[in-house]
Amino acid sequence: MLTLLCISLIAQDVGAQSFSESEWQIIRSLSPAVLQKDATNAFETNKEAATLGQHLFFDKRLSSNGEVSCATCHIPEKYFTDGLSVSQGIKPLDRNAPSVLNAAHQRWFFWDGRTDTLWGQPIQTIEHPSEMNMSRSEALSIIQQDDVLHKQWNNVFGAMESRTEDENAAMLSKSIAAYITSLSAANAPFDAFVNGDNSAISESAKRGLHFFITDGGCLRCHFGPWFTDGSFHSVGVPPLNGGPLKDSGRYGAIDQLKQAEFGAGSEFSEDKNGMRATITKHIAKRKDDWGAFRTPSLRNVAKTSPFMHAGQLATLDEVIEHYSTLENFVSADHHRETILIPLNMTEQQKEDLKAFLETLTAPLPDEALLTDPRQVNLEHAQ
Ligand code: HEC
Ligand code: HEC
Repeated sequence: MLTLLCISLIAQDVGAQSFSESEWQIIRSLSPAVLQKDATNAFETNKEAATLGQHLFFDKRLSSNGEVSCATCHIPEKYFTDGLSVSQGIKPLDRNAPSVLNAAHQRWFFWDGRTDTLWGQPIQTIEHPSEMNMSRSEALSIIQQDDVLHKQWNNVFGAMESRTEDENAAMLSKSIAAYITSLSAANAPFDAFVNGDNSAISESAKRGLHFFITDGGCLRCHFGPWFTDGSFHSVGVPPLNGGPLKDSGRYGAIDQLKQAEFGAGSEFSEDKNGMRATITKHIAKRKDDWGAFRTPSLRNVAKTSPFMHAGQLATLDEVIEHYSTLENFVSADHHRETILIPLNMTEQQKEDLKAFLETLTAPLPDEALLTDPRQVNLEHAQ
């Protein structure tokens, strides 16, 4: 009895983490995570558009070899990632597949932010020679020749013949974006904790949270309910296969962003003169952008290994080790993120930080959103 009491006293001594009022203010700024509306896509929350988009997301006919769909690299059970360092489409790619869960919250899309709208993304991927390698005209004719898709399309957008091919390509992209917008996974144990349930996360996770918002300095880039500043930095992770840095990241993306066919300021946007479009118009290319990548959201991060833009780090332990030692830090040509210093963490601190990151895992969205609707319908018909 006495020993039990002693053990529990000791455990409490090591464990109990309390937060000051100013720390609580910071913690409350991290939850809840709610999607902002995207004015550039009028179909963003249209249910029928999302259903059409879901059909297209799982449709392998949209690739030149009939074997690749969006779900090949964004696998629902893997929190819409593929578990590979770099993805494999028609040909191998050189970047890691981010989750599309909660993707609608992003300010910029892709690791280098070369797109300023969510719906600017799908048609690029379908037409990309290494990804799905299919022209927009072929993709549109697949829809037109398919009874189910054709009917859904007409219901949402009206007849294809009433629009130009490029306008239809934008509609196709907007329907997939509507599906992705419906994929939210942002209600995690951490949110329950912030909402007042003190037992929703462990004492270890609370210590990790404390480190995250104080000595860890993580908050300087991973802040707000989505745990990202929406900006671009280099954290010095070496390239996947060693050697010098080759991927110019944000730097190379600026030209693409300005020329983007389906951008916020394009003729296909429903908010051509809005804030997103204006920022893109005035953005300048800076030397410091060379080798910088978007600060990823940390929501569901425990489910989306491997990590970093080329999946260079296999586990959260490796990520934490990197921030702790910065041992293999590679500096992009022009700058070094001066705000990063080795944290020299103790084993306990590393364990706690990981426990905290694990509390950001929310359940997957509704089962009905996770499968190919066509397969489900076929099963029902049989
Ligand atoms: C061959 C694998 C592959 C296929 C197929 C694929 N993706 Fe991706 N996806 C990726 C990779 C890799 C990235 C990151 C690319 C980059 O940053 O340059 C990405 C990025 C994205 C993003 C940006 C997410 C973010 O956080 O910025 C979205 C959205 C997305 N894909 C949706 C789709 C859709 C929709 C399709 C089908 C039309 C699709 N993907 C097909 C691998 C794939
Ligand atoms: C200078 C800004 C900055 C700071 C400070 C920072 N990060 Fe990051 N973090 C980033 C960027 C940028 C990336 C992506 C880098 C890349 O892909 O090359 C990243 C990637 C990550 C990833 C991988 C996520 C994924 O999906 O691949 C994790 C986990 C992470 N950071 C956690 C942390 C933690 C924990 C701290 C504090 C110890 C921290 N970060 C501090 C900017 C920062």
